[in-house]
Amino acid sequence: MTTQPMIAFREVHKYYGDYHALRGITAEIRPGEFFSLLGPSGCGKTTLLRTIAGFEDISSGAVLIDGRDMAGVPANKRPTNMVFQSYAIFPHLSVAQNVGFGLRRDTRSKGEKAKLVEEALEMVGLKGYGARAAHALSGGQRQRVALARALILKPKVLLLDEPLSALDRKIREQMQVELIKLQREVGITFVLVTHDQEEALVMSDRIAVMFEGEIAQLADPETLYRRPNSRRVADFIGVMNFLPATVTGERGDTITAEVAGLGALEVARSQVSLAPAGDQAAVGFRPETLTLLYEGQQAGDREAQGVIDEVVYYGDMTYYDVRLDGMERPVRISMRNVFGRPVLDVGTRTRVAWSPGALVLFR
Ligand SMILES: Nc1ncnc2c1ncn2[C@@H]1O[C@H](COP(=O)(O)OP(=O)(O)OP(=O)(O)O)[C@@H](O)[C@H]1O
Ligand SMILES: [Mg+2]
Repeated sequence: MTTQPMIAFREVHKYYGDYHALRGITAEIRPGEFFSLLGPSGCGKTTLLRTIAGFEDISSGAVLIDGRDMAGVPANKRPTNMVFQSYAIFPHLSVAQNVGFGLRRDTRSKGEKAKLVEEALEMVGLKGYGARAAHALSGGQRQRVALARALILKPKVLLLDEPLSALDRKIREQMQVELIKLQREVGITFVLVTHDQEEALVMSDRIAVMFEGEIAQLADPETLYRRPNSRRVADFIGVMNFLPATVTGERGDTITAEVAGLGALEVARSQVSLAPAGDQAAVGFRPETLTLLYEGQQAGDREAQGVIDEVVYYGDMTYYDVRLDGMERPVRISMRNVFGRPVLDVGTRTRVAWSPGALVLFR
């Protein structure tokens, strides 16, 4: 038996006047899933999220929540709640009043409401903060108040539009981990909008990558990273080296591609990207799938030679741009720094190993 999706988009189109903001979105979000909408500014992430909440009418198609078509269902009758980027808490109210704001039309007794507020605060790690003035909170704490307020009515779906983007890096990373934990605890379906690919990879069960009103790829983080279905997706998620390639043969499940500097490569058909790359085929390598070989180190199956063009030191990692012999442009290689192993200098001649299993052929 397949479970019914929590959210289903069926051929959703949205026009703002002449502008075609959503171009036939079809996708399903599973119950209890941490789902992200990822894409560059203006691609339609917020618009799509707002069609779930009911803040945005769609021009054609359908949005279903828990099997029910939401056409004509106003926002306040939908089983969803939303946390915004500017989390709009009321500074002149106490923390408890802010969290309880969502209950103002609820008919429960004062005592019951107070209990719900306390539970919601505990959920987000703010137990005992109820009496505090909201303006006397840090950015991270305010975001927690906004979360508690959204969760207090126990929606089936929590919609989060760039909820962490106003926080600085350290707190943002901490909140990411807390959000994942919270989502697992409450079991509610989370739909997160972000333009930060790292954030999407860290937090999501699955990610829809969007460009210009369309979903370019929908997959789990590892598939997106290892097998992006187009150069555009590969470029948006992390760093990928692209080397021009010529396909020279196909036999069964193996495709042979010729790459200047690397020679003939055999690529499994499962590593061929599904979407066309344009006229010129290319192979793609992530920086960590290439390795600098130190003196005396044996190569795996393959080895090439080159000169270090650029070195960027990150403490735990070093990024090297290496110009391989016979290749026009340098490739980026990331190496984990190991105590006792020196960081190499620009101009050093070096050997590079790679594993053919890790590359993706775009054709
Ligand atoms: N009310 C509106 N009227 C007209 N055009 C709009 C309206 N809202 C959004 N758009 C346009 O629709 C497109 C998608 O907007 P949307 O806000 O969904 O993008 P986004 O992916 O959330 O971007 P960002 O990362 O910048 O928030 C944009 O080109 C935007 O200018
Ligand atoms: Mg947006």
